[in-house]
Amino acid sequence: MSASLESLFPTADGIDPAWRYVPDQSGLSLIIDGKLLTWDGPRSSIASAIVTRSVDGKTSPVDLGPAALASAEIGRAAVEAASRAWKGGRGDWPRASVAERIRAVEAFVGRAKTRRERVARVLMWEVGKPYKDCLVEFDRTMRYIEDTIATLRDLDRSSAAAVHDSGFAARIRRAPLGVCLCMGPFNYAVNEVYTLILPSLIMGNPVITKTPRYGVLANALFTEALAASFPPGVINFVTGDGATVIGPMMESGLVDVLALIGSAKTARLLMRQHPQPNRLRSVLGLGAKNIAIVLADADLDQAVTEIVSGALTFNGQRCTAIKLVLAARPIAEALVERLADRVAAVPVGMPWQDGVVVTPMPDRGHTDYLESLVRDAQARGGRVVNQGGAERAATLLSPAVLYPVTPEMEIFSVEQFGPLIPVGVFDDVEQALAVIEGSPVGQQAAIFGKDPKVIGPLVDHLANLVCRVNLNTQCRRGPDSFPFTGRKDSAVGTLSLSDALRVFSIRSVVASADAGAGLLHEIEGTSRFLAV
Ligand code: G3H
Repeated sequence: MSASLESLFPTADGIDPAWRYVPDQSGLSLIIDGKLLTWDGPRSSIASAIVTRSVDGKTSPVDLGPAALASAEIGRAAVEAASRAWKGGRGDWPRASVAERIRAVEAFVGRAKTRRERVARVLMWEVGKPYKDCLVEFDRTMRYIEDTIATLRDLDRSSAAAVHDSGFAARIRRAPLGVCLCMGPFNYAVNEVYTLILPSLIMGNPVITKTPRYGVLANALFTEALAASFPPGVINFVTGDGATVIGPMMESGLVDVLALIGSAKTARLLMRQHPQPNRLRSVLGLGAKNIAIVLADADLDQAVTEIVSGALTFNGQRCTAIKLVLAARPIAEALVERLADRVAAVPVGMPWQDGVVVTPMPDRGHTDYLESLVRDAQARGGRVVNQGGAERAATLLSPAVLYPVTPEMEIFSVEQFGPLIPVGVFDDVEQALAVIEGSPVGQQAAIFGKDPKVIGPLVDHLANLVCRVNLNTQCRRGPDSFPFTGRKDSAVGTLSLSDALRVFSIRSVVASADAGAGLLHEIEGTSRFLAV
């Protein structure tokens, strides 16, 4: 236990009253079949990522109040309610017009926006994310929803005209897929939940969402707005243990789309539970091991700035984080020296402090795992090169640059999801490409360098190994109009404002052999599917 790191945690009485957390019962909220329920069954106690310390050196997690541990029956009730709303495709919501669905989503945004500060504060306490980043996450989410509405209006306009081919006149529009089970991750417990459920809903699919393991309370704050904005069965909200509550949903065979941002292991498990796997569509955002390749002619200051931010923002708990740096031998030592200086100066502290980057993490077991990765690297010849790196106190781990790392070390290939920056060396860039080629995942990569004659051909390899190549900048998901996807075990399907609308729908055609399209035109006034 590092005493200096431990002193960053507050004592129970030392928390500024402006930031103190007052637990309430909101974590017991569920939505089943349009009803906002307060669960009175088994519950868990949500522990904050933040602990308090006592004078005798003990730390205790801050208790944030209860959350519902919904039962298997609730899981089944949720999926059955969604299935009734779908009604084989004949329910009111799947047959509603685009304008009707947009109205419901707009009503939701209006209600949700009133909870901005409360959601950000609860999210901060649950997952330890800096408060300012929690506000950014909330705002980005609301903007994403508003941009989704605008994108759908564009998509709708572009499919408004009849197409004519080979004597047929047709209208081709997008129709919903069925019951969507949507689950987001704890690291973007608000944003990535809504980047799944909102496109699903607006395209006419009834949705069940289960909250991530951390971020339950922040999500529960949206339940009133959800229940008030959508018809019965269209949005169902559950919390609790995945094996208990999700297993029965998958086994029911009533789920048509599994949308999950999380681990590949969870995705495999859930997909296997579906009795008719060929009927199940999957939209998955899974693991990544994004590599930064630093070439010999790179601007090292720029590379260091981007790598530090790309690897350490929110403690490196981003799927898009830079998780391995491979540096050309001639500049490797100089890069590591600068990285070490910069990382030693990264502010570590409590998430309400201004400018803080590294903060407590919600999963204590994972922090133990990160320590084990450091020990493994050290046992195989790696060093923590920055002052104060890899020190631990409760849920805090100080950021560390590990150098040199080699393929024998675990950290070289696993997704650390923590504030560790492993740096390896290459003599020939072909070695870096071989690492990416051999990886089971393939989301993004970053190249730092200047020479177009080197970088152009490198891009040609990387474009087929990953799905986004970042030039002299870190890896990231945004802007949200860009496709967000991956190869191999990193993703199934593509998310972006427009791709998400496509991935949660299917094209459906109304064709007429009457080339004059008389009837086709006339039913625009009587069909909600064809309404323009
Ligand atoms: O955890 C993965 C997120 O989608 C990353 O998003 O690159 O905007 O932090 P970001």
